Amino acid sequence: MHQSRSPAVKTALRRFRCLPVKICLILVITLSYVALQFYSGHWGTSRPVTAYSSREDELRQYQMKEVDLDFIRRAGLVDHKIADLSDSDIDGMNQTELMVTVHSYLDNCDTLCKRRLRMGLIGEGGWEVCDDEGVRPRSHRCLVYSFGNERVFSFEDDVARVYRCEVHIFKASTERAEYNRSSLIHVHPYGVGRVTEITPLGTELHTFADIRSILNHAGIAIDLVKMDIENGEWSVLSGMLLDKQLHNIRQLLVEFHVGFPPNLDRLRRIVRVMRSLSRIGFRKFYVHKNPRGSYHHPHFPILRSRNYEIHFLNSKYL
Ligand SMILES: *[C@@H]1O[C@H](CO)[C@@H](O)[C@H](O)[C@H]1NC(C)=O
Ligand SMILES: *[C@@H]1O[C@H](CO)[C@@H](O)[C@H](O)[C@H]1NC(C)=O
Repeated sequence: MHQSRSPAVKTALRRFRCLPVKICLILVITLSYVALQFYSGHWGTSRPVTAYSSREDELRQYQMKEVDLDFIRRAGLVDHKIADLSDSDIDGMNQTELMVTVHSYLDNCDTLCKRRLRMGLIGEGGWEVCDDEGVRPRSHRCLVYSFGNERVFSFEDDVARVYRCEVHIFKASTERAEYNRSSLIHVHPYGVGRVTEITPLGTELHTFADIRSILNHAGIAIDLVKMDIENGEWSVLSGMLLDKQLHNIRQLLVEFHVGFPPNLDRLRRIVRVMRSLSRIGFRKFYVHKNPRGSYHHPHFPILRSRNYEIHFLNSKYL
């Protein structure tokens, strides 16, 4: 290798070796600093790095004017008045109005539950149950359905232990094994879907009405339905509404996946599902933003969440 170097390079290398180590170090540090500033895009600006810089970065890509609080107060439905929207009202809403409606509605309660009990973990995995007379699980003869894919059943264990409910957990898995977690908790190896099918991934899904038939619960009231099915809730709830499966459910706890930022069709479908739930009496007694996955969007001046855990009670039972 050394033999192949040209005399000019050899001279340059010899000169470099003669530079004092201290000067070399200063040179390296200065050059690194310049390179770092250049690549991070801060060169030539004196923009202070504040807690809001990520908000500005996120908003810059939209080049839209941010909506203000007055607009949100006018257009953002927070309560049962969503039930009064007609189809043409919803079709006539633009993206700003839809975003403001969806996030205002999901972010606010429209009824009061005087006594809430958190079942399961205090953090992720636990859910609130309304213990008010009328909507609370009927002691010793209550029925609970839980749909999701979690590995920890802290919520289900508490509901079975505290109310002595018969709990059915539906966990779509490829193992296809049915088992009893306890004398009250039954685990089924299939999930809920818009249609009854085996998915391309090999999971078994049944409609909500079919599940009730399989378990001999057709026509029997269900005290509590919990659902965290990663985006499947929109089609499943639409199907349940069409099949009239929701009217004899006392409490409905759902994680709604709103998406980031959702497109127009998706937003309209969300508003329609909320409107239908409100029309048959479902009211939100507790709402919680899942802290995983928040974002800034010009259609709201404060951070938005991608997922909301919404706790409904059926006001017909109050
Ligand atoms: C949406 O409609 C509102 C009126 O309710 C209007 O102020 C706003 O500019 C519209 N937004 C877009 C993007 O057209
Ligand atoms: C679970 O318990 C029920 C009765 O509560 C019983 O009918 C069923 O056979 C049990 N299933 C298994 C897999 O042990």
